Amino acid sequence: MNKVTMNKIIFVALAVMLAVCGPASSQTGIKKRRPLPYEYGRVIIRNYSEKAGLAPVVFEHWIHRSKFTCRVCHVDVGFAMKAGATDITAADNAHGYYCGACHNGKRVVDGKTVFQSCSEKVTAGDAKRCERCHSYGLKVASEYDFFEFSEPLPKERFGNGLDWEKAEELGLIKPSASLEGVTIKRNPLVVQKDFMLNPKVEGMPDIIFSHTKHTVWNGCELCHPEIFVGVKKGTSHYSMVEITEGKSCGVCHTTVAFPLADCQRCHSKPVQP
Ligand code: HEC
Ligand code: HEC
Ligand code: HEC
Ligand code: HEC
Ligand code: HEC
Ligand code: HEC
Repeated sequence: MNKVTMNKIIFVALAVMLAVCGPASSQTGIKKRRPLPYEYGRVIIRNYSEKAGLAPVVFEHWIHRSKFTCRVCHVDVGFAMKAGATDITAADNAHGYYCGACHNGKRVVDGKTVFQSCSEKVTAGDAKRCERCHSYGLKVASEYDFFEFSEPLPKERFGNGLDWEKAEELGLIKPSASLEGVTIKRNPLVVQKDFMLNPKVEGMPDIIFSHTKHTVWNGCELCHPEIFVGVKKGTSHYSMVEITEGKSCGVCHTTVAFPLADCQRCHSKPVQP
């Protein structure tokens, strides 16, 4: 590799690193600090709660993704993949939709009955239950301790600090791919070929994109057609800047799946000398 290309790689890589590691929101100008491992994947849902005199809702991906695949919630239950974009009302939950698809006081998961979500009639004894979800800004003791949960799992440096993929491979977590009464039976997915993406900057390692692995977690519908048209390889355009802005691969890899700071987990193909 000559010196000019080497400099170019370093320049582009640095620009990307700056964008990834020091994100200053262009809208607010406030510099966001990097989330702590237990905060990564947290979503605050606050369209209606405050108007109803309740604290906004805190949703943690780490608890939920250890029990279900992404597809169960984002396809079968129907949550949007953007914080606040699902219009969830107390009535929806009480009637068994959205959070209420599981949190209905009846469904049993891993041998435990899942606590009920919103209900219209509220007794004094209910308040504690409401606060398990309507907890933003309150001091509510969670039944799930992140450090206890993550202790036996393989570690990574960024995001939740866990290697979710390996945890699943080793059988340490077994996310269920269906939800009785909600998931419709369908034919097994026709898995697509894995492929390579070339960053077009000499010296920057190619990206190996595994359709097979992504499909296990996401099915097809999480990516096609909204994030990637996917009719033909080459129709979607990728750039690290767009990904950093939360588009394309960045829809998941800036919020829930391992974050962009982990360059070499995507840019993994060895560079040819
Ligand atoms: C499993 C989680 C969960 C639990 C438990 C829960 N809620 Fe909710 N609730 C939600 C979510 C999510 C929303 C939507 C939040 C938003 O957009 O602000 C919501 C919204 C609401 C709203 C505002 C929306 C509307 O339709 O008026 C009310 C009122 C409400 N809940 C009442 C309750 C009460 C009362 C309890 C306790 C008996 C309770 N909730 C327990 C998840 C929960
Ligand atoms: C138990 C249900 C559940 C599971 C499982 C789940 N999610 Fe989510 N996800 C949600 C909810 C609820 C929201 C918030 C939606 C809203 O606010 O309207 C959300 C939001 C998101 C967002 C938007 C985050 C943001 O900050 O804007 C992304 C991206 C996402 N999920 C990806 C995933 C991926 C990838 C997986 C699998 C590894 C996954 N989810 C598993 C329920 C789930
Ligand atoms: C696909 C099923 C499913 C859906 C949908 C779901 N959850 Fe859960 N959630 C679970 C299970 C299972 C647990 C563990 C329950 C237990 O141990 O009682 C859990 C646990 C929780 C906890 C942990 C409480 C604690 O004390 O640590 C909170 C908070 C929570 N969910 C909020 C939500 C909210 C808010 C929504 C909707 C935005 C939601 N969940 C949607 C299955 C689901
Ligand atoms: C995590 C996201 C993701 C998931 C999940 C996913 N794909 Fe794709 N798929 C892609 C990307 C990225 C491309 C490349 C698209 C492009 O460049 O326009 C692609 C391309 C394709 C193509 C065009 C292939 C070619 O060689 O021209 C087909 C067909 C396709 N996907 C079908 C599927 C099917 C069927 C599933 C489920 C079994 C699936 N995909 C799951 C991201 C995904
Ligand atoms: C719909 C959400 C979603 C989208 C979009 C997505 N991913 Fe992923 N990806 C995941 C999840 C979930 C994992 C599991 C690991 C984790 O959560 O940290 C994963 C794992 C990976 C891995 C490690 C597994 C492997 O293949 O060896 C790579 C590399 C990767 N993604 C690259 C990409 C690239 C490149 C794109 C864009 C072309 C992309 N992903 C788009 C959700 C997504
Ligand atoms: C989630 C996967 C993923 C991660 C993590 C990731 N990249 Fe990328 N990167 C991509 C994809 C996809 C492309 C576009 C490939 C193409 O053009 O087809 C790309 C392109 C690039 C390019 C080429 C210029 C451009 O803007 O397209 C550079 C330089 C780059 N990445 C640097 C980095 C650095 C430095 C990091 C770590 C801070 C990083 N990337 C982390 C997926 C990733």
